[in-house]
Amino acid sequence: MSTHLVTGISELTTQSSEEARPESAENRVLDAAMIVEHGRIAWIGPAANAPAADQRTDLGGRAVLPGWVDTHTHLVFAGDRSAEFEARMAGQPYSAGGIATTVAATRAATEEQLVVNALRLRLEAARQGTTFLETKTGYGLDLESETRSAVAAAAVADVVSYLGAHVVPPGVDRRDYLDLVTGPMLAAVAPYAGFVDVFCETGAFDVEESREVLLAGRAAGLGVRVHGNQLGHSGGVALAVELGASSVDHCNHLSDADVAALADSPTVATLLPACDLSTRQPLAPARRLLDAGASIALATNCNPGSSYTSSMAFCVATAVLQMGLTVREAVWAATRGAARTVGAELGPGAVGSLRTGGIASFQVLDAPSVSHLAYRPGVPLTIAVWKNGERLGSAPPVGGLDR
Ligand code: NIG
Repeated sequence: MSTHLVTGISELTTQSSEEARPESAENRVLDAAMIVEHGRIAWIGPAANAPAADQRTDLGGRAVLPGWVDTHTHLVFAGDRSAEFEARMAGQPYSAGGIATTVAATRAATEEQLVVNALRLRLEAARQGTTFLETKTGYGLDLESETRSAVAAAAVADVVSYLGAHVVPPGVDRRDYLDLVTGPMLAAVAPYAGFVDVFCETGAFDVEESREVLLAGRAAGLGVRVHGNQLGHSGGVALAVELGASSVDHCNHLSDADVAALADSPTVATLLPACDLSTRQPLAPARRLLDAGASIALATNCNPGSSYTSSMAFCVATAVLQMGLTVREAVWAATRGAARTVGAELGPGAVGSLRTGGIASFQVLDAPSVSHLAYRPGVPLTIAVWKNGERLGSAPPVGGLDR
């Protein structure tokens, strides 16, 4: 295996600072270079100091940053809910009830169809710079379909979350369903999963039910994540903090006490701007959370009901343009901040940052700096993606950039 020098990097976003200070000079190297070897970064620093290598790629003055870390998706599903989306844009409110439509289509699909659809979305995300992705079960909601969903999820994602507690499926007694979710279904899915998740919301599960599901998952060895405070003050955030969850996701409706609790805890608030727009919910209070001292992550929530996008760049641009974050805060939240929610921030398997010895998963923008992600919203700026030291696709960047 040869060494590969990547040079011509106008701005290298490393996210190497141990603290969540995205503006820190430690997190950015100008006129940088990297050497990739055996899937890892063998050297990183100013181009002027770069050692020799066997091969060389000149990026022509473009920005490099870690691959996106998308830690909230629901890629295992079948069917389409564009009619529901159209009705919503005409004034219908979003509710948990729409999930049943996807459950019916998912149960009717074969495992192969589920894998192919999920893989299509995974590749769509990869082309846009996502190099690490979590996905969930949650559209099967019976023993067989949830297990099939877990197998499909494990085939396409880096981390799987068990979301048997998405809603109580139609026609099933609540208590019976909770017993299934915390008993045989958990036992069947846990071997494929790293986390247990629950939709703690009106129309889904209340706080007591959610606690029961999460504690059962934890007893089975899974980490804890929560869908909380999406459609109202569900109590999901307080529960997530109480249980020391890795992440509480959505967070649209937060009291001052919720914000203070998050600021005082290791639980990360994962914000889902595309979902907020697609469901016409108030945008999550990203600025308020950061100013209070809470950790945040950004994710797509790619799913057919509430947020059908795989674009992390769209989420970053929205977080900057509409949620009051700086570009570097948003990029931090979509890379290292997100890695924190799945225990992949530090150590040899760390993602979301670029450092000597670390995994060589990064993306190249057709722009001189990450600020263009919000300065040029909607433009597909990611033109090359490297995952574990391998270039995905092969088109070289065209020409150099004027700076
Ligand atoms: O995270 N909120 C709950 N679950 C998914 C979407 C569910 C759906 O409408 O299909 C979400 O938004």
